[in-house]
Amino acid sequence: MTIRWYPGHMGKALESIADLIKKVDVVIEVLDARLPSSSSNHQLQALRRTKPWVKVLNKPDLADPAVTAAWLKQFKSETGVSAVAISAKKQLEVKKLIKLCKELSPRNGRLGFPTRVMVVGIPNVGKSTLINTMAGRSLAKVGDKPAITTVNQRIELDGIVLSDTPGVLWPEMDDQEGAYRLAASGAIGANALDYHTVGLFAAEYLMRRYPELLKSRYKVAELSESPSALIEEIGRSLGCLIAGGEIDLNRASEAFLRELRAGKIGRISFEEPSLSQEVDS
Ligand code: G4P
Repeated sequence: MTIRWYPGHMGKALESIADLIKKVDVVIEVLDARLPSSSSNHQLQALRRTKPWVKVLNKPDLADPAVTAAWLKQFKSETGVSAVAISAKKQLEVKKLIKLCKELSPRNGRLGFPTRVMVVGIPNVGKSTLINTMAGRSLAKVGDKPAITTVNQRIELDGIVLSDTPGVLWPEMDDQEGAYRLAASGAIGANALDYHTVGLFAAEYLMRRYPELLKSRYKVAELSESPSALIEEIGRSLGCLIAGGEIDLNRASEAFLRELRAGKIGRISFEEPSLSQEVDS
């Protein structure tokens, strides 16, 4: 199954982001700490030029801490890029991010010239959560869905003017491995994927990379011999059955992915920086 999810409004949203980027001082790109490469939109990167760019590895509570440290090291070695692993839900950490943006701004310290910051990222990485924490209140979500407005939202804070933008993906997902990681993380619309196929992909990865976490979560001494057997066992233990006592594989996979996305299996990273990078533990 090829994963492709590019609702029509995303092209228009990218155009408005391209317009707006010229008028801001700093860009915050929100990434998913579990997949910082696959959750980065190369189309947004292409708009960057010399603009100070802050990569926020959000949801660090769900990611493998040693792998997140390795990603931070890699990103910090890139010119003009700052990188932090913070939770968009945590006020104190977000305060540090605001301070960093002010420091990075060419307008830093100029009275009457607030730092203009734009928040970008793919759907579901935590942009709205970050904006709400920055603003200290709950704001309307800009549109990730066709029915919701795609207009960028401007929020004025102390010394900062913040622009919220809709989540954008890219039209052709040539890197299907990356697309499957995105799907496993929850960034792809449910109507564009088949739970069983994505569940099998995630099960295969976890059996290879985090077998102990699986054993501990599902209380087994040994893992099933294949990803499909694992999904079946999970389905049986969670009671995902259809008439005749057979396992409902779709429902079992959905339940497995739900557990994975909520961090119930443990702290999992779906990808690591190039192998030449050392992983600090
Ligand atoms: P978006 O604007 O980029 O589309 O993302 P949004 O803020 O809506 O966040 C998507 C989901 O990610 C939300 O969960 C949100 O709570 C969760 N999230 C954001 N930051 C963090 C974090 O640092 N850690 C964890 N574990 N989750 C985070 P949801 O279940 O879709 O919504 P809700 O029921 O939590 O509101």
